[in-house]
Amino acid sequence: MEYLAETQILSTDNVSIEKAAEVIRRGGLVAIPTETVYGLAADARNGIAVARLFEAKGRPRFNPLIVHVPDIEAARSLAEIDDAAEKLAAAFWPGPLTLVLRRRQGSGISDLVTAGLSTLAIRVPAHTFARALLVACGRPLAAPSANRSGHVSPTTAQHVAADLSGRIDLILDGGPCEVGIESTVIDCSGGSPSILRPGGVSAKAAEEVLQRPLKQGGAGEVGSTDQQAPRSPGQLASHYAPKARLRLNVKVPEPGEALLAFGPEVPPHCGPMINLSEQGDLREAAANLFAALRALDAKGCRSIAVLAIPGEGLGEAINDRLLRAAAPRP
Ligand code: TXA
Ligand code: MG
Repeated sequence: MEYLAETQILSTDNVSIEKAAEVIRRGGLVAIPTETVYGLAADARNGIAVARLFEAKGRPRFNPLIVHVPDIEAARSLAEIDDAAEKLAAAFWPGPLTLVLRRRQGSGISDLVTAGLSTLAIRVPAHTFARALLVACGRPLAAPSANRSGHVSPTTAQHVAADLSGRIDLILDGGPCEVGIESTVIDCSGGSPSILRPGGVSAKAAEEVLQRPLKQGGAGEVGSTDQQAPRSPGQLASHYAPKARLRLNVKVPEPGEALLAFGPEVPPHCGPMINLSEQGDLREAAANLFAALRALDAKGCRSIAVLAIPGEGLGEAINDRLLRAAAPRP
């Protein structure tokens, strides 16, 4: 498939959904809005399409992808859903939760999607147009966040275009993402469930549904059984990296720094500033986080000072992403 110099951006309506479904069926790549962040979707059963997806993102091959399906029945046909997964799915699907499950033989999912693991990450998105596309194209969609590997996740169609225009076939513009931060990843593939990535569903809410604490998995942890790969390989220490250096939990910004603020009390500062939520609302802050990092980074400051953000609820996922954005680059 030949790429145009610039990828076409269409607003989401019935016609563009049909067009997107056609592109997917032909093995193409379509950036789609979801409630968390924009995803770059390809037919999860088409190995060539998935390979092109890795290529477009410049993503390391060992990093497995989330498969998106329209409902739990579709998930059941691809993977084994145990009691814990059943409870979590009932409570949070459709929505910002990804379950890592034991994959079924013969599901037809490309081995590139699972990066050779015996497990499969599945999510049922809540976004109207993501769901409409899943139904229209009638196949499971592999969809990582629609950014160049290592960049900040996109929460608008313009962010996607900035990273991937000319490298993919189509962008569907559904406006800014409501949640603004990626899904929570919980491993239900064996033993008691563990959280691999904090995200749009808080650990506390998941623990209430399960009525037991989640084990901590994730970042760099190596699977002890058959898989010599990180449990959630996407959780590389330096992910979501803006060009500017990030200083976290700052009380007093330095001259020349950009400021990422949170809450009503902002220290005196002259220079670029964005407040994630003047009311101190963590939901609003999550929705604004990636756009704010991009916007401040575009100002060209060497450093971004970030005020302290509380760790409860969605604050856990926000602080996780900030820590990764602040980590030293490889
Ligand atoms: O909200 C989201 O999850 C977005 C939207 C587009 O759905 N997608 C997203 O995908 O964030 P991605 O590829 O950027 O992140 C997927 C995460 C990575 O941390 C990856 O390592 C983990 O899920 N993952 C995927 N399959 C896995 C598996 N079989 N075992 C463990 N972790 C897995
Ligand atoms: Mg990502």
